[in-house]
Amino acid sequence: MHTYLKKLGAVSIVAMSVVLSPAMAAGKVTGADYANGKTIFEQGKGDVPACNSCHGAEGLGDDNLGTPRLAGQIYQFMTKQLEDYANDRRMDTVMYVMNANAKGLSPQDRKDVSAYLNSLGRVFSGKQLQVASGGSDVAALKESGVEVGVAHLGKELVNFGNVERSIPACLSCHGHSGRGVEPMFPRIGEQKFVYLVSQLKKFRDGSRTNDPMKQMQVVAKKLSDEDILNVATYLTQAPPTTMGNTRIPVEYLP
Ligand code: HEC
Ligand code: HEC
Repeated sequence: MHTYLKKLGAVSIVAMSVVLSPAMAAGKVTGADYANGKTIFEQGKGDVPACNSCHGAEGLGDDNLGTPRLAGQIYQFMTKQLEDYANDRRMDTVMYVMNANAKGLSPQDRKDVSAYLNSLGRVFSGKQLQVASGGSDVAALKESGVEVGVAHLGKELVNFGNVERSIPACLSCHGHSGRGVEPMFPRIGEQKFVYLVSQLKKFRDGSRTNDPMKQMQVVAKKLSDEDILNVATYLTQAPPTTMGNTRIPVEYLP
């Protein structure tokens, strides 16, 4: 259905889903042991190595390894990913570790570590929300020889899609600036550049197929290499707050 959304329709649907976003965002996950999640993240468990050894000390991901940012990611989405890895519905073809890592954790551990990770990356100073940026330094990547795209072209696709090529606006599912919509649409704003590119290519070539109803595969198959670089360049630098709008997104309330 999203394919048919016109610009205004997409914007109002996003506005609606943000307003109607469930209360969990504003609170803690019930039944999750945050202390156990923190221990797993920092020390690992049994044969499973510490998550921070690859995902960064603050869970912000690492372009050199191709790992994603997990800090502040949507809780339900992360537990689903860990379950998909554990059941081989999603295969880690970047470092070939996540399937074993997820299998080495119990369902409760996966819940605990996801809840803990969801709570990372939000800092309030006074009334002002300050989210640890964590996005990639695009200029530095370019300097080091990584091919990057053009941010404003990416922004256009994210916000409006492309009607002629029937590409839906990414924000119609992922929310404003790609900040994510509970429970199923992950945060893609301020995600690491290398990871964004790798996942869009995986959805496009069919090596990642754990998206419900092929929602991402359908979109990714319409994207050119250039489109992928452009959206990743914009998204990695897209903060959840906007200039002139100081309202704190409900997803980020403590
Ligand atoms: C040896 C490196 C390594 C370690 C250790 C590691 N990860 Fe990962 N993780 C990765 C890589 C690489 C990916 C991306 C794989 C892919 O393309 O599917 C990933 C992906 C993920 C994702 C998917 C995120 C998303 O946005 O879809 C989650 C969730 C995750 N890891 C959680 C964890 C947790 C929890 C731990 C600790 C128990 C952990 N990881 C330990 C390398 C690692
Ligand atoms: C019809 C809804 C929909 C649209 C439109 C959409 N996505 Fe997605 N996207 C999803 C869903 C659902 C997932 C999570 C799949 C899963 O559960 O593994 C996802 C996952 C992703 C991921 C992987 C995130 C991660 O952490 O693993 C990326 C990157 C992504 N989308 C980028 C985009 C971009 C860029 C666009 C616009 C060009 C877009 N999406 C448009 C529904 C959508």
